[in-house]
Amino acid sequence: MQRFSTPIFIISIIFGGLAKSQNESSIDQALSANYAPITVECPTNIQWVRPANGLSKEEVEWVSKRKVVVFDALHDYLDRLTLEDFDLHEFAHRIKESNYQNVPTLAMAISGGGYRSGYTGTGIMRAMDSRLPAANLEKIGGLLQSLTYLTGQSGGGFPVGSFLTHNFPTTDELVQLWISQLDAFNAVPDNSTAAGSFASMFIDIGQKYAAGFNVSTSDFLGRDFAYEFLPGVRGGLGVTWSGIRSQSKFISHEMPLGMVQATALEADDPRYYGYQVPSSDSPFYEFTPFEFGSWDSRIAAFTPMEWTGTQISDGTPVNSSACVRGFDRASFVMGTAASAFNFWEVEDISNGTLVPFSKRSLSQSSASKTAKLARRDTGPNGEILFPAVQLAEIAFAFKEFFNLTTPFIAFPSWPNPFLTSNTSSSSTSQGESITFVDSSESNQSIPVWPLIQPARNTSFIIAYEDGPDALPYGWIAGANLHNSYLAANTSGLPFPVIPPVNTLQNKNYTLKPTLFGCDINLTTTKSSDSPIVLYIANAPYSAYTNYTWTGQAGAFDATQFNEIFVNSFNQLTQGNGTLESDWTTCLGCAVIDRTLDKIGMQRTNQCQECLQKYCWDGTYDQRTPAILDPSLATNPGLGYLEWNATSAL
Ligand SMILES: *[C@@H]1O[C@H](CO)[C@@H](O)[C@H](O)[C@H]1NC(C)=O
Ligand SMILES: *[C@@H]1O[C@H](CO)[C@@H](O)[C@H](O)[C@H]1NC(C)=O
Ligand SMILES: *[C@@H]1O[C@H](CO)[C@@H](O)[C@H](O)[C@H]1NC(C)=O
Ligand SMILES: *[C@@H]1O[C@H](CO)[C@@H](O)[C@H](O)[C@H]1NC(C)=O
Ligand SMILES: *[C@@H]1O[C@H](CO)[C@@H](O)[C@H](O)[C@H]1NC(C)=O
Ligand SMILES: *[C@@H]1O[C@H](CO)[C@@H](O)[C@H](O)[C@H]1NC(C)=O
Ligand SMILES: *[C@@H]1O[C@H](CO)[C@@H](O)[C@H](O)[C@H]1NC(C)=O
Ligand SMILES: *[C@@H]1O[C@H](CO)[C@@H](O)[C@H](O)[C@H]1NC(C)=O
Ligand SMILES: *[C@@H]1O[C@H](CO)[C@@H](O)[C@H](O)[C@H]1NC(C)=O
Ligand SMILES: *[C@@H]1O[C@H](CO)[C@@H](O)[C@H](O)[C@H]1NC(C)=O
Ligand SMILES: *[C@@H]1O[C@H](CO)[C@@H](O)[C@H](O)[C@H]1NC(C)=O
Ligand SMILES: *[C@@H]1O[C@H](CO)[C@@H](O)[C@H](O)[C@H]1NC(C)=O
Repeated sequence: MQRFSTPIFIISIIFGGLAKSQNESSIDQALSANYAPITVECPTNIQWVRPANGLSKEEVEWVSKRKVVVFDALHDYLDRLTLEDFDLHEFAHRIKESNYQNVPTLAMAISGGGYRSGYTGTGIMRAMDSRLPAANLEKIGGLLQSLTYLTGQSGGGFPVGSFLTHNFPTTDELVQLWISQLDAFNAVPDNSTAAGSFASMFIDIGQKYAAGFNVSTSDFLGRDFAYEFLPGVRGGLGVTWSGIRSQSKFISHEMPLGMVQATALEADDPRYYGYQVPSSDSPFYEFTPFEFGSWDSRIAAFTPMEWTGTQISDGTPVNSSACVRGFDRASFVMGTAASAFNFWEVEDISNGTLVPFSKRSLSQSSASKTAKLARRDTGPNGEILFPAVQLAEIAFAFKEFFNLTTPFIAFPSWPNPFLTSNTSSSSTSQGESITFVDSSESNQSIPVWPLIQPARNTSFIIAYEDGPDALPYGWIAGANLHNSYLAANTSGLPFPVIPPVNTLQNKNYTLKPTLFGCDINLTTTKSSDSPIVLYIANAPYSAYTNYTWTGQAGAFDATQFNEIFVNSFNQLTQGNGTLESDWTTCLGCAVIDRTLDKIGMQRTNQCQECLQKYCWDGTYDQRTPAILDPSLATNPGLGYLEWNATSAL
C-alpha cells in the first residue's frame, strides 16, 4: 500500500475547473493542462443525434477517399504476389471504372487479452506493413496499408489508439516510444512522459470528478495505459479520440479508420457479489473518431464523438451554454474499452470459480479440472488472476480520494446522449448515463461487430485473437469467433459460419491462419454480402508467446518485443514459406475473392485450389480435443522449458 501512504483528499483541494473556452487552440491548451472536460457555448450547426440508418456523412466521405489510397497499396501488394492467370491490369481497370467504389473493404480486428493481445496484435500489424522490407519480400507487406478499418477491444485497443494518435508510424518507431520495459502497474514514476505516479493519476481524475462527471477505475486505468501508449507529456493528457481526425495521415487518408467497442450494461443484467456482468446480447457501442453510438435496435443512434459528455435530451443539448469538450480523452476511451474491473473482482472474490476472464461461457474448455488451488492469485485451473492486492489498492484509493466505493467505481459512465422524453421509444431504457464493460465479457472478444454492419460493406476481415482461454497453458480455444458467428446469425448480420471449439481445435485452426466463408453457402447470408474471415490466433512459431498478462506482459524490453514480432511474422508467413510454401499467395486469393464477384471476374484455378486448401470446408470434428499444448512450429524440438531458459524472457 506504499503508493498511497499519504493520501490526498483531492475533493477538498480541487474546485470546479469549468473554463470558458471558445476557440480550438485554447480548448487544446485547457485539455492539456487539466483532465476535466470543459464546457463551451453549443454550436448551432450540429446534428447532435442521428438515427443509425447508415454511416455518417463524414465517414462515407472519408472512406471514399481512403479507397483511392487503398487502391494503390492493394495494387502494389497484388503485384508482388504474381498470382497465376490473374489479370491484375484488368482487375485494376474495372475497379477504377467503378470510381473506386469496388475497392475491397478490408478490415482487421484485434481481440481483448490485456497487454498480451495488444503486443502480439501489434506484431501482426507490423508483419503486414509495406514499410518493412522483409514483409514485402515475403509477400504480406501492404496488407496493413490496404485496410479501411481497424478495430480493437480491451488490450487490442492499445495498438489501435497508439498507432492512430501517433500518426501511424512504423511499429518499430512506435514501440520505442512505449518504453514498455516499465511494468505499467508497478512503475516507479520518473515524472517524464514514461510513467506517472498513482497520486498524479488520481489528481487528474479528481479534476474530472470535481467538474461534475462520474469517475471510475476506467479513468484510472486509462491514465495508466496512456503513459505507455499515447503521445505527449503527462501521459497524453490532452489527447482526444475525436482529435485523431487532425492527424496528418488521417487527413490524407493514409491510415485506417480506427475504432474500439465496449458493451453497455442494462438494469436487468445479472450480478455477482454486487457486480453487474452483461448478458451475451447486451448492446455493443462503437467509438470512432467521428462518432459514439450503437447499431443495436434498442439504441440505433449516433452522436458526434467530439461532443460526448454533453447532456442531450430529445436530440438537443439541455443547456445551450453547456456543451462539453474533452470528455472523449483517448485514455478514457481506451480505458472504457478495457473495463474489466468487475470481472477481476468477481474472479478474485470467487477464487477463480466464477467468470474466468476472458471467457465465461466456454462450455467446451479443454482445461484440466484437477489442478489444486495454490494461492488466491491463481484460479482452480492454474490461470493467473488479476493480483488481488492491486485491486484492493485501487479500490482503497478511490475511497480515500473520492469517498467512492465498489461496485460503483467499477464501471465507466458516459452521459447518455440518446435520452428521449418519448416513453414509447426504447432508448430511454439506458437512463441518464450509460455504463460500460469490456466486450470480452459478452463472449465475443474479437471486435468484429462494427465491421459486419451492412453499411460498412466489409469484404475481408483479419480476425486476430489472443485471449488465453485454452487452459491450462493459455493458448486460444476459438470460442470467441464461434460466438461471433452465433450472434451474427441471430441478428441477421453477414458472417461466415464458424464451427464450435472442438472442431476448431481438432483441425488446428487456433494454431495456423485459417479462412472462413470462402464458400458463400457457409455464411449467414448465403451470399457474397458476407465477408471472408481470416482467423489468426496467437500460437507459438518461434517463441512461446503465451505470456501471463499480469506477469511478464506488463514489462517488455526491445529484445522481448523482437521475439514477439518474429513470432508473428513467422505465423503470418508460415515460417517464410518453409511450413506452407503457397500460403501467402493463397492469402491474396482470399483478399480479393469477394470483389471478383462484384466486378464480374472469375476465380482463377490457382485461387480455387488455394481456397480449397486453406478454407474451412464445412466439415466437423466434434470429438473432445486434446489439451492445447503446442510446440514451436518452426522449431518443434525446442520445448517450453528449454526455450524459457534460453530466451530473453
Ligand atoms: C483563442 O483564445 C485565446 C484565449 O482566450 C486567445 O489568447 C487566442 O488569441 C485565441 N486564438 C484565436 C485564433 O482566436
Ligand atoms: C516526481 O515528482 C514528485 C512530486 O512532484 C516528487 O516527490 C518526486 O521525488 C519526483 N520523482 C522523481 C524520480 O524525480
Ligand atoms: C453518475 O452515475 C450515476 C449512477 O450510475 C448516474 O445516475 C448519474 O447520471 C451519473 N452522472 C453523470 C454526470 O454522468
Ligand atoms: C447553463 O450553463 C451555463 C454554463 O455552464 C451556466 O452558467 C448556466 O447556469 C446553465 N443554465 C442552467 C439553466 O443550468
Ligand atoms: C476464497 O479463498 C479464501 C482463502 O482461501 C476463502 O477465505 C474464501 O472463502 C474463498 N472464497 C470463495 C468464494 O470460495
Ligand atoms: C462518504 O460516503 C458515505 C456514503 O455515501 C457517506 O455516508 C459519508 O458521509 C461520506 N463521507 C465523507 C467524508 O464525505
Ligand atoms: C415515439 O417513439 C415511437 C417509437 O420509436 C415512435 O413511433 C413515435 O413516433 C415517437 N413519438 C414522437 C412524438 O416522437
Ligand atoms: C494438428 O497438429 C498436430 C501437431 O502438429 C498434428 O499432429 C495433427 O496431425 C494436426 N491435425 C490436423 C487435423 O492437421
Ligand atoms: C450453394 O447451395 C446451393 C443450393 O444447395 C447450390 O445450388 C449452389 O451451387 C451452392 N453454391 C456454391 C458456391 O457451392
Ligand atoms: C523469416 O524472416 C524473418 C524476417 O527476415 C526472420 O526474422 C525470421 O527468422 C525468418 N523465419 C524463419 C523461420 O526463418
Ligand atoms: C506456454 O505454452 C507451453 C506449451 O503449451 C507450456 O508448456 C507452458 O507451460 C505455457 N506457459 C504458461 C505460462 O502457461
Ligand atoms: C522461465 O524463466 C524465468 C527466468 O528467465 C524463470 O524465472 C521462470 O521460473 C522460468 N519458468 C519456468 C516454467 O521454467
